[in-house]
Amino acid sequence: MTDLADRFTTEGFCFPLDVLTPDAALALGEELLRIQAADRPAALGNKGQFQYPHVISRAAAEVVCHPVLLDAAESILGPDILVWGSTLFAKAPHSRSYVSWHQDLHYWGLDGDAEVAAWIALGPVSEASGCMHFVPGSHLGDAVGHTDTFAADNALTRGQEADVDVDPDDTVLVELEPGQASLHHGHLLHASGPNRTDDWRLGLTVNYIAPHVRQAVAATDFATLVRGGDRFGNFVHVPPPESDLSEEAMAWHRRILFAQNDAIYEGLDGTEGEIR
Ligand code: NI
Repeated sequence: MTDLADRFTTEGFCFPLDVLTPDAALALGEELLRIQAADRPAALGNKGQFQYPHVISRAAAEVVCHPVLLDAAESILGPDILVWGSTLFAKAPHSRSYVSWHQDLHYWGLDGDAEVAAWIALGPVSEASGCMHFVPGSHLGDAVGHTDTFAADNALTRGQEADVDVDPDDTVLVELEPGQASLHHGHLLHASGPNRTDDWRLGLTVNYIAPHVRQAVAATDFATLVRGGDRFGNFVHVPPPESDLSEEAMAWHRRILFAQNDAIYEGLDGTEGEIR
């Protein structure tokens, strides 16, 4: 087992990984904000967050295939890798938006934990700007219940909060330089605070899964093969976009948003247009 996979297995996370140069990271952040602004429906996901940019943006499609990220994912998931999701998490200057303590896999409808989230900093990410906090080893405990709060400033779709009391002394701050990434396990407890700085806090999350995982809630689910093969066929394969915001790419994007809403909002009535 590689050192990276060893740390991931023990702690539930690993960082920093050097993925992009600072200049490339800042340029990608600007590019994704531009595409988000060009296509408002793309930003209808998770409370205005830009969902699945890798389906409609060439630059995002390239970065999800970055060899540093795929090598890291391979050391944890094995040689066959799909991208199940991506999200641009943009906190505006002095935004009160925060993310409560939660475990990702609690509410995605996936039937296994062969998932790795990579969070790539597209600008400086500090405690003051609302970086993530992790609870080391929390992925190893029993599954934790979550309560839907629908709190206004909570960036999660249901305002869901894990039913735990976290001692700040037990947490790790995930401060990153532009272009660095962190990896976290789908059962790791994590949260992030508001942005108290004059700068945007921009991060791109990419969710990698192994192809044997199944979607257990939604009727159909989608993913993009980025390394190896898929002999399971549990996901409809989505091609990378030929050009930014192409008609075909936009059609895929709409299909995915609607289908994954079914999984994320399972058990809720009267909600639409928001996921995760
Ligand atoms: Ni999360």
